Amino acid sequence: MNKKQLFLFLLALLTLGNVHTSSAQAGSFGIGNKTFLVNNKPIVIKAAEMHYPRIPKEYWEHRIKMAKALGMNTICLYAFWNSHEQTPDNFDFTGQNDIAEFCRIAQKHDMYIIVRPGPYVCAEWEMGGLPWWLLKKKDIQLRTNDEYYLERVRKFLGKMGEQLADLQISRGGNIIMVQVENEYGAYATDKDHVRNIRDAVKDAGFTDVPLFQCDWSSTFQNNGLDDLLWTINFGTGANIDAQFKSLSEARPDSPLMCSEFWSGWFDHWGRAHETRDAATMISGMKDMLDRNISFSLYMTHGGTTFGHWGGANSPAYSAMCSSYDYDAPISEAGWTTEKYFLLRDLLSNYLDEGQVLPEIPQSIPTIQIPEIRFTESASVLANLPEAKKSKTIKPMEDFDQGWGSIMYRTTLPAVKEESSLVITDLADWAQVYIDGELIERLDRRRGQNSIKINNIRKGAQLDILVEAMGRVNFGRAIHDRKGITEKVEIVSNKKTTELQNWEVFNLPLDYEYVSSRNYIANAEPQAEPTYYKGTFNLDTPGDVFLDMSTWGKGMVWVNGISIGRFWEIGPQQTLFMPGAWLKEGENEIIVLDNKGPKETIIKGLDKPILDVLHAEESLLHRKKGETLNLQDEKPALEGTFEAGNGWKQVSLNGVAKARYICLEAINSHVEGKETAVAEINIVGKDGKDISRQSWKIVYADSENLSGGNNSAEKVFDLQESTYWKTAWNVDFPHQVVIDLGKVEEIKGLRYLPRMEENTPGAIKDFKLYIKESEFKVDGRE
Ligand code: GLA
Ligand code: CA
Repeated sequence: MNKKQLFLFLLALLTLGNVHTSSAQAGSFGIGNKTFLVNNKPIVIKAAEMHYPRIPKEYWEHRIKMAKALGMNTICLYAFWNSHEQTPDNFDFTGQNDIAEFCRIAQKHDMYIIVRPGPYVCAEWEMGGLPWWLLKKKDIQLRTNDEYYLERVRKFLGKMGEQLADLQISRGGNIIMVQVENEYGAYATDKDHVRNIRDAVKDAGFTDVPLFQCDWSSTFQNNGLDDLLWTINFGTGANIDAQFKSLSEARPDSPLMCSEFWSGWFDHWGRAHETRDAATMISGMKDMLDRNISFSLYMTHGGTTFGHWGGANSPAYSAMCSSYDYDAPISEAGWTTEKYFLLRDLLSNYLDEGQVLPEIPQSIPTIQIPEIRFTESASVLANLPEAKKSKTIKPMEDFDQGWGSIMYRTTLPAVKEESSLVITDLADWAQVYIDGELIERLDRRRGQNSIKINNIRKGAQLDILVEAMGRVNFGRAIHDRKGITEKVEIVSNKKTTELQNWEVFNLPLDYEYVSSRNYIANAEPQAEPTYYKGTFNLDTPGDVFLDMSTWGKGMVWVNGISIGRFWEIGPQQTLFMPGAWLKEGENEIIVLDNKGPKETIIKGLDKPILDVLHAEESLLHRKKGETLNLQDEKPALEGTFEAGNGWKQVSLNGVAKARYICLEAINSHVEGKETAVAEINIVGKDGKDISRQSWKIVYADSENLSGGNNSAEKVFDLQESTYWKTAWNVDFPHQVVIDLGKVEEIKGLRYLPRMEENTPGAIKDFKLYIKESEFKVDGRE
């Protein structure tokens, strides 16, 4: 064959391929009376949620096959805008970002696809999927009709359409539904905005399949559009009847779908590992299947939030771990679990016509690796990039930096009296140096933003090295600029001086940057921020878990890929290292440790460690020997909450001022000693809930932190499915005291009991105390 013949031959092969795809059978998906219809036949959607960037591309097919062997018929996935458009107008749909390829692989295995293109997705993903560079616009209002925001959204959705519109079932693909925005009712009430997003989704070409909105049962009516399908999100344990009650009343003929049934939950650094009971998950799913309710199991396979892509929640600010195992049926590394087998048994009783359960695919092999040792290191501070100059403090985004650390340097005036160095606002973890000496570490999670200083010579050098963790992914706090956002001041009794004339150093997380520092032959543990480099040799690559438990706080790159963050406080102690990214022969590893390791070695383990917590202080809001003293207090309100699921509201006699509130549970509607509170809102004098962004728990008589996470701040974590629960052996009355952050004028309180049937721990009789000054806690310093 000559070159031309070869070319023609290849072309013929290519066209053959094309003929094949374009002749893929077009089908239809629609909504009938109380049911979904595929090719005009009723179908119950059994969707497995998984996220393409959270799975190495090489393993996509494996995980899709795992979902199919579980008995699912659909894969549900978000699209992650900020991963596709990391800098404005540079779109990437290759490699890990090849979302269309993911859909095609699913089609190869006869799995339908539900796409949730955002633009906002939440998902415990950096900024809920929105690109950080949107924050360069000072006054941007994300998720509103802000013109610039909408323009960028339309552009992104247009690109999604180019990738995916032709994969709609009507055009021979496997996409059966597309979501519009995400839980918008939990963010705002603005139908106009949802209409704009709907229109942008349609303009992108998603015209042939049903579009839907997903929300909570408490919020779906805020923004429900007439022409969209409404679906409800809730988790393991929830009372299914209660969840669908208002929807069935509003739209008696609509098919019902739980668009996110939470199989487990996500982990935060420094907080107890989250799990959800397998039997409870199964019974909820059985309940839905028995009533032909469609669902997407979020997550069926959570995978890993590689690199810097983890988000954060607020209040209180709290960044996500790298593992997104989620206690899901398919583990982070793609393994079967107890939940997997129980669910497979269940689903085998509800197969679609013609659906056969394939064998469970083998899991990807794990390997033993020799202990990794390091040979070189480079100090972060001795390897600074060129400085930028700025008169005033500005956040990282203003210096065109998205992720990593940023250092602000200036000289101090003489300080001769007890003063505070106050940082407004700090995002997220800072090390403060004076004349090169580490003075203190400040952690936004713990509300720390100032240090005491005194006896400082004029001209001393101040360095504030700030590490950004994930951007907040839920609620108004998604406007989460990094570094130092406003100012740094020296405050004494006499005066306040704002520091100016900064030198600013950007320390990004790009492999190009971290690998090209000036490394020297020394791998001893350093107490200052340092990059460590080493190599390790493998005969055969395979999956392994890197044990980071001797390291402080930072990030790991293997063969140029960032596999995630670590932090000694846990609960995650190992990082999932996919074998697909390892090589036969020599592999390179770089660790950035901003705090400092105890030992510079890494063991390879054959199992993950996701539940070993070394929090810096007790997570409990009551120390041994402390008791809340209400003796001299008079309740502002005494009463009885109604029984049953859903929000309960009680009102004060008029408007009162309060900075601290204490809710005391006297007894429960159900048996047992426990109290459980999913959410508390305080109604302000305008009748609206006041912001909870600066709330803090002052006291809780007991908290259940064993075998799950039911700490007291779950009453204002904005999540209706998470709750504070008292310890099983502690008697009534139970109290929680909240600091509202400032004196507020309040009219009442709203309380949400647990979502479960019978509302375990639901408060019946209560007393509400409110004060402008703190409550007395006996035994507290
Ligand atoms: C919500 C969001 C999801 C995810 C889950 C919690 O339902 O829609 O993106 O954040 O909560 O895991
Ligand atoms: Ca909650």
